[in-house]
Amino acid sequence: MKIKIDNSNSSRKKTEMLCCFVLEDSDKILGLNKISSEITASIKQSLKDINGEMGKITIVPTNNKMAAKRILLAGIGKKEKITNDTIRFVSGKIAQKARELKLKEFSIITPPSYVTEPISATSQITEGCKMALYKFEKFKSKKEGSSPDLSILVSKSNRISKAIKNSEIISDAVIFTKSIANLPPNECSPTTLATFAKSIAKKNKLKCVVFSKNELKKKGFGGIIAVGKGSKNEPKLIVLEHYGGHRNEKPIVLVGKAVTFDTGGISLKPGEKMDEMKFDKCGGCTVLGIMKAVSELRLPVNVVGIIPSVENMLGSESYRPGDIIKLYKGKTAEILNTDAEGRLILADALAYGEKQYSPKAIIDFATLTGACIIALGTNVAAIISNNERLKQKINESSKRTTEEVWELPLNEDYMDMIKSEVADMKNIGIGRAAGTITAAAFLRNAIEETPWVHIDIAGVAWTQAATKSKPYNPKGATGFGVRLILDYLQKI
Ligand code: BES
Ligand code: MG
Ligand code: ZN
Repeated sequence: MKIKIDNSNSSRKKTEMLCCFVLEDSDKILGLNKISSEITASIKQSLKDINGEMGKITIVPTNNKMAAKRILLAGIGKKEKITNDTIRFVSGKIAQKARELKLKEFSIITPPSYVTEPISATSQITEGCKMALYKFEKFKSKKEGSSPDLSILVSKSNRISKAIKNSEIISDAVIFTKSIANLPPNECSPTTLATFAKSIAKKNKLKCVVFSKNELKKKGFGGIIAVGKGSKNEPKLIVLEHYGGHRNEKPIVLVGKAVTFDTGGISLKPGEKMDEMKFDKCGGCTVLGIMKAVSELRLPVNVVGIIPSVENMLGSESYRPGDIIKLYKGKTAEILNTDAEGRLILADALAYGEKQYSPKAIIDFATLTGACIIALGTNVAAIISNNERLKQKINESSKRTTEEVWELPLNEDYMDMIKSEVADMKNIGIGRAAGTITAAAFLRNAIEETPWVHIDIAGVAWTQAATKSKPYNPKGATGFGVRLILDYLQKI
């Protein structure tokens, strides 16, 4: 989809579909001042039909009485209820309508500044449309085909052009994340992810290093090796480095869990919905997407992405309940459930990130615990942190991007819950109590005092039964975290 800015008069805009926003209980079509008198009656009726209700759309044919072939009216609800997501959400709906009608192009009028701030509105239009038109159809013989192009009607300025360019890169990164996260496990092994990382690096001048199984063994990555043992698809540790800041400036380290399939291992998962465990690589895919955008946006910061990737399978080589393993930092862990594998590979990656880079901050993403879905559901991610300031920043980015997060506590009592009788730690807590927090407690042991935020994306990484339906999040992986962290990185 190509996007361009157009500051021509909206009532004279030649387009297959002129899309305008409407507030609830209002008969004003935002940004459209002149309507040909021959069609005012039908427009008035259509306005009444949707009454500006958030998410409702209706189409009015113009019967050659205007330059535009048809007008689409899109409700955005009451002005005081508009959020940082309203325009993104409704724009997604519009774009899907345009595709359904098989249009070659369509136009959206940016709402006036008394309704929404124009930079934010144009960014949301761009993101909403681009993301909503993504569809995972790699394995479909019959594909939907190409997406319509978009003209955004807004008064031209450098800031607006920049905002659109920015949003295009961000949306492309989200789409990239979704498209690899959606890959089935037989088509995506740790090696496949490493290949994706290398190709991003090559295109965008990032440094990329991939550690092989042998190197991981030699360097003492005991968690990654143990979890990876049961699969013939060998484990990898993928590292991408972006140097946009001063050479000696400490980087931000991003760590993402990439279990390309999680059977649970010897502690085998029940069969129901086990297919969804192809999404257990979403944390790693999010980090890959962020690194792609970070380099394309040439962000003036140093950022390192670290992705531990394994397949958690069961077989004669698998690690077992009862095993005691040694993690990268030297601490030992008693394995009591091989399905609690994410924390083992993340502990190695977090410790490596801290030791190797002495970072300013570490942020990790992981589909870590089913308990997170019980606690917060499928629309909000859990965050757990050791640092007020970093947490505050993430919360601010969450407000701006509407990728929602909620904090859970982590104090010494929770740390005690993962102490083992026979090793330094055990890889599960006590029963099912506070499952999301005890997993984070395990991770907390992997780092010293570096500011750290852990983001459990188990509920939000892909669309599940209880997920709020959003046009820009069609069925499958959501790319949660890409917009959130790119906002954070752009604001530091
Ligand atoms: N990948 C899962 C967590 C998960 C489950 C995410 C369902 C999304 C949906 C993780 O590896 C896991 O299996 N965690 C266990 C931990 C338990 C054994 C302590 C869980 O949550 O059941
Ligand atoms: Mg598991
Ligand atoms: Zn898992």
